[in-house]
Amino acid sequence: MHDMYTMLSKRMNLILFLGVIFWCAVFVHSSTADDYLNKCISSTNHKNVPGKEGKAMENYHCTPWQNKSCCTWNTTDNIDKDGALSLYNIVWDQCPKIQNMSDKCKQHFKRDTCFYECSPNLGPWIVADTTSKKTRKERVRNVPICKSDCEAWFSDCSEDYTCNDNWATGWDWSKKGTPAMCPKSCKKFKDYFSSAKQFCEKLFDGSFVYSENNENCMNMVPVGDNNVKVSEKKAEDLASTAARIQQSIFGVLLSSLIYNLLF
Ligand SMILES: *[C@@H]1O[C@H](CO)[C@@H](O)[C@H](O)[C@H]1NC(C)=O
Ligand SMILES: *[C@@H]1O[C@H](CO)[C@@H](O)[C@H](O)[C@H]1NC(C)=O
Ligand SMILES: *[C@@H]1O[C@H](CO)[C@@H](O)[C@H](O)[C@H]1NC(C)=O
Repeated sequence: MHDMYTMLSKRMNLILFLGVIFWCAVFVHSSTADDYLNKCISSTNHKNVPGKEGKAMENYHCTPWQNKSCCTWNTTDNIDKDGALSLYNIVWDQCPKIQNMSDKCKQHFKRDTCFYECSPNLGPWIVADTTSKKTRKERVRNVPICKSDCEAWFSDCSEDYTCNDNWATGWDWSKKGTPAMCPKSCKKFKDYFSSAKQFCEKLFDGSFVYSENNENCMNMVPVGDNNVKVSEKKAEDLASTAARIQQSIFGVLLSSLIYNLLF
């Protein structure tokens, strides 16, 4: 009776040990930096993997991404034609009775839309989107945007009008694609937001953080391979954090296993 119990418990230990090995193999695989790089957000407009779009994407706002892009030329074409209207049913001329969006402001929103749709470097900031059911399974959170980009964007838009201080929520979708979808009153951006930081962080519901660290921030329009480097650094940080967690869990499991086998 006692022997059978010991045998059984040895077998359990063996199974546990194999389980740990298997689990670690899976975990180690999921924690390399490469797993966070060259990825596209899972949503209706994004491609599955980044790739070349080439000449078709020339002469558009999104051209900087033409050789490695998460958007198709068609998305690019839509952005140039009507901003976020074809893509998301959101109008940028939200207050046509007062003033339509100025061109200098619109340039920034177009660049932002290209950045979001086309950049293959947002992988480390992709998270599951638990709220949107229809258009996307994933979103980005806390992408560090260079201070200079936020400042220029806010400054060029501060005299322009909007009717919503968080473009991710509040819209009346039964009036989609028209100013009637507005949830709040028409006010200048500078009246909704007191600073470029607030503007950058709040308007897109936490997708961006205003970064004062010039060495480690993303440019809305890529400058050299800066965005690639920032993305790689973040991917390595994420991978090493995951590896550290995995190591400590592995350590605890291994010591308890050894303890079990010895005593
Ligand atoms: C894309 O690649 C082509 C051919 O190699 C090159 O001429 C072009 O400048 C590249 N575009 C960008 C935006 O890097
Ligand atoms: C491009 O987008 C338009 C409007 O969203 C759509 O009607 C059209 O089918 C798309 N074309 C391609 C080639 O995907
Ligand atoms: C804004 O654009 C709409 C549509 O093109 C136009 O009807 C409206 O008059 C414009 N508003 C102003 C203030 O110019």
